[in-house]
Amino acid sequence: MKHTDIAKVLGDQALLGQEVTVCGWVRTARDSAAVAFLEVTDGTSFSRLQVVVDKNKLALDPECGKCGASVCAKGVVVKAFKGEGAELNATEVTLLGKCPSDYPIQKKRTTLDFLRGIPHLRLRTNTFAAVFRVRSVAAQAVHRYFHERGYYYIHTPLITASDCEGAGEMFRVTTQPWNAKYESEEAYFADDFFGKKAGLSVSGQLEGEVAATALGRIYTFGPSFRAENSNTTKHLAEFWHIEPEIAFAELPDVLEVAEEMVKYLIRAVLTECPAEIDFFDKFVQKGLRDKLTHVAESDFAVLTYTDAVAILEKADREFKFPVGWGCDLQTEHERYLTEEVMKKPVFVINYPKEIKSFYMKQNADGKTVAAADLLVPGIGEIIGGSEREADPEKLLAAMQARKMDLSAYEQYLSLRTFGTVPHGGFGLGFDRFVMYVTGMENIRDVVLFPRTVNNIM
Ligand code: 4AD
Repeated sequence: MKHTDIAKVLGDQALLGQEVTVCGWVRTARDSAAVAFLEVTDGTSFSRLQVVVDKNKLALDPECGKCGASVCAKGVVVKAFKGEGAELNATEVTLLGKCPSDYPIQKKRTTLDFLRGIPHLRLRTNTFAAVFRVRSVAAQAVHRYFHERGYYYIHTPLITASDCEGAGEMFRVTTQPWNAKYESEEAYFADDFFGKKAGLSVSGQLEGEVAATALGRIYTFGPSFRAENSNTTKHLAEFWHIEPEIAFAELPDVLEVAEEMVKYLIRAVLTECPAEIDFFDKFVQKGLRDKLTHVAESDFAVLTYTDAVAILEKADREFKFPVGWGCDLQTEHERYLTEEVMKKPVFVINYPKEIKSFYMKQNADGKTVAAADLLVPGIGEIIGGSEREADPEKLLAAMQARKMDLSAYEQYLSLRTFGTVPHGGFGLGFDRFVMYVTGMENIRDVVLFPRTVNNIM
């Protein structure tokens, strides 16, 4: 159907006096004996276009006046009777789809919690339409950022046989139900589709390293899967993961890229979604625009894990999880560091090797690895990354210490045998990033159909 976006009709002065066709959903309607007014939206902006129907000239189907009905309207664009904008003097209004009065997107009932129960309709509200416009702009900016800097976009497999990347529990991929006839798990998996145990990948990093150690700079941007039983406001079972991997890079280079990329994405959202940011600032998180502008313009802080623990130990605060050198930092610790101590995004670097993955570069102190997590106010960790261990012997020792099945990692290890190079990278949880830039507090509200524990609507 040829038609013009409502955002264009409202924003393009050149259309005044022109005939256009618009398509959309009726948000509200008012009616008098002589004139009917339909407020129509089509998802292209917050603004509604007022369609004016002169009832003496045009017979309007009463179904067109119902909230949620879909319509197609043809007419001439004129200056709005009130205010700055434009409206449409209709010459034709066609009902595309009726909408009965039990349409759930009615003004009074739209709490976020209620809307989570109707994921198929919630994008018709201002909040969710805005979240998904921002999400799209940010995703485009990810590709632009890397493309402009000579990174190659690599598609790593989603089904994998390596189950000990260390990032989290894997979902199994299988075509056969458990059958008691099998004597052992090995025999059962040998009979399965791939002839061995397979699962959904928790990260594209290991394959990303393969590509980076040939192409130099690469990134992945796709879904990752975690079967962890974390029913929190920031965990999904299926999330979108951006993972750059850079050859000839050490930890400071990784931090530099992570900081530059996050700022680039924030600037893209501020520039391309000004109305959405104003909306979130007004209705979701007061001060959001200032926060984002400040973050885009100032340096991120860097703190070693050891210093971070010392700060937490001295904190005038009862944490639910006790703090001590060697402990994994919990969200409450992360948020304290970034929100109350640093008051801005902070990289925590050089974690104890025992709480991080086998592939991280072992520091000279023998105790820590060259890892970096980026913590941001309101959420906690949004990036996890590291320099990778490039020394084949040290890598092998770390894997042996974790009693890993080395046969599954022969190819990964051989990257260190054949022309090993210092390299590193990180993973940004894209959904968490969208939470950060919109101020939305629950990750379920930035994803079309969130997959979480006990929820696959
Ligand atoms: O810290 P993680 O587990 O790191 C990795 O997977 C590395 N292989 C990345 C790399 O170095 N290439 O995950 C990276 C980020 C986290 O900081 C978080 O933002 C996001 O992925 N993330 C999740 N987001 C939503 N739901 C979950 N269950 C997530 N688990 C991780």
